[in-house]
Formats: sequence, C-alpha cells, structure tokens
Amino acid sequence: MDESPVTPKIRVRHLNFYYGTKQALMNITLDILPQEITAFIGPSGCGKTTFLRCLNRMNDEIPHTRVEGEILLDDADIYASTMDIVELRRRVGLVFQKPNPFPQSVFNNVVMGPRALGLETGSALEDMAQHLLREVDLWDEIKGDMTLPALSLSLGQQQRLCIARTLAVRPEVILMDEPCSALDPIATLRIEDLMRKLREQYTIVIVTHNMQQAARVSDRTVFFWLGELIEAAKTAQLFTRPAKKMTEDYISGRVG
Ligand SMILES: Nc1ncnc2c1ncn2[C@@H]1O[C@H](COP(=O)(O)OP(=O)(O)O)[C@@H](O)[C@H]1O
Ligand SMILES: [Mg+2]
Repeated sequence: MDESPVTPKIRVRHLNFYYGTKQALMNITLDILPQEITAFIGPSGCGKTTFLRCLNRMNDEIPHTRVEGEILLDDADIYASTMDIVELRRRVGLVFQKPNPFPQSVFNNVVMGPRALGLETGSALEDMAQHLLREVDLWDEIKGDMTLPALSLSLGQQQRLCIARTLAVRPEVILMDEPCSALDPIATLRIEDLMRKLREQYTIVIVTHNMQQAARVSDRTVFFWLGELIEAAKTAQLFTRPAKKMTEDYISGRVG
C-alpha cells in the first residue's frame, strides 16, 4: 500500500455533498498533510469552495444541504454530534475571497476572536496584536498605529489583516478561498510569501483558479472536475507528469 509516513491532519473519506437534490461533491477521498500547502484547482463550479467549506462545517449554515461520508480532523469526526462547532472553527479557520475586515480599528479586528473567546485580556491583547501584525508583515506598513481604521488599508493589506485575525485564535488549519482574487499582482505575491512562511506552523489549504499560483505556492495540488476529485499529487508531479488525461487537458488549457 502507498502509505504516507506523515500522519494526515485531515482525512476525508467518501464525502458526498448535496444542495437540495443537487449533488455537488461525489465520493471524495483525500488526505491533507500538516505543514504543507494543498491547492484545490479546477474550473468554476466544480466544487472547490463547497469542499473547502465542508472542512470546517461552514456549509452547515446553508439550508437544505446534506453531507455523507466522513471527515476526520486528527482522529475526531468533525460531523459527529459531539463536535463543538465553535471550537472546530477556531481550529480550522477560513479566509474569504474578498477581504472582509470589520469597519473598526486594525486593533479591534485582530483581537476580535481572542476577545470573544476570552483567550487574552488587557496588555496581553496588545502584545498579541503587535506580534500578529508583524507576522503578516503589516506592523511596519501601519507604522505601529493599530488605531488606524481597517478600511483605510489597501486591499492587500486588508487581506493580510484578515489573515492576522484568523491566526489570532491559534488555529491549526487555515483554509483560504481564492484569497488573492481581488488583489493586484504585487499584493498577491506578498500573500503567497506569507503562506510559505505560515506553512511551517500550520496546515494550509487554498482554493485558486490560478494554476500559476498553485504551481508557485503549493506542495500538493488537487484537481476537481464536476464535483469529482480527478487527481491529487505532489504539485511538481501534477503539473509535469499528470496521471490522468483529464488533468493534462486542464493544465494545458485544452479544456476548462
Ligand atoms: N448555496 C448554493 N446552493 C445551491 N447550489 C450551490 C450553492 N453553492 C454552490 N452551488 C453549486 O455547487 C456547485 C459547486 O459550486 P462551488 O463549490 O462554489 O464551486 P467552485 O468553488 O469550484 O467554483 C456548482 O454547481 C454551484 O452552482
Ligand atoms: Mg469557489
């Protein structure tokens, strides 16, 4: 058997997902490894976002949806009735496509989660915010002024602020759904640099419609087509020696 020596952070087994009667994911089985960046690629509508949002049960918020199969985080079934969803979403954070900071100060944005969860208080919050803003390379750009309105930042800076906000609750997994699609090329490269830095400490999953981005930043790439997982492989391998004809057609731009 082709057993990986690394213990997967997330194991997905025979996952089906339905919006009403429409099936959006078909029998997905995948391991997601820690300290790696996994990229999901595939044409629009193939189920990348749906799958990403299954990983922290964000789809639960959408009425008339249904999940079958199993997703294990470490060894716990995240769809078990005993799973604490607030805790799950703390452990598995989600960064959205469009930066969505709250119309408040940079500081209030960063500390929102820890405040709500009572993780830190007082000057510990200040120290934490400063540390996180350095982590996402914003501290110098805002010249240490955390009172700045978040909405006065550039879009790229706002997205890095949103990443800091996600990191603030000490997640283990970070999900990013096309985090650069609203950004210019320079801001995009800065987010990619940040992802590579964060990979050391977190399990990262990104959805991208940009194959160059997947090739640049990810360790593993997963190709979806019409709700099916067609191929999952090391990124270099998937882009140079894909195992499936369909993958080859897609990455060479013949279809999709
Ligand atoms: N809230 C929803 N209700 C019904 N169908 C949806 C909803 N969200 C997505 N879908 C459908 O599920 C499929 C997969 O969508 P999505 O996961 O958004 O794909 P991708 O992120 O790859 O573009 C598409 O056919 C889409 O129309
Ligand atoms: Mg999507």
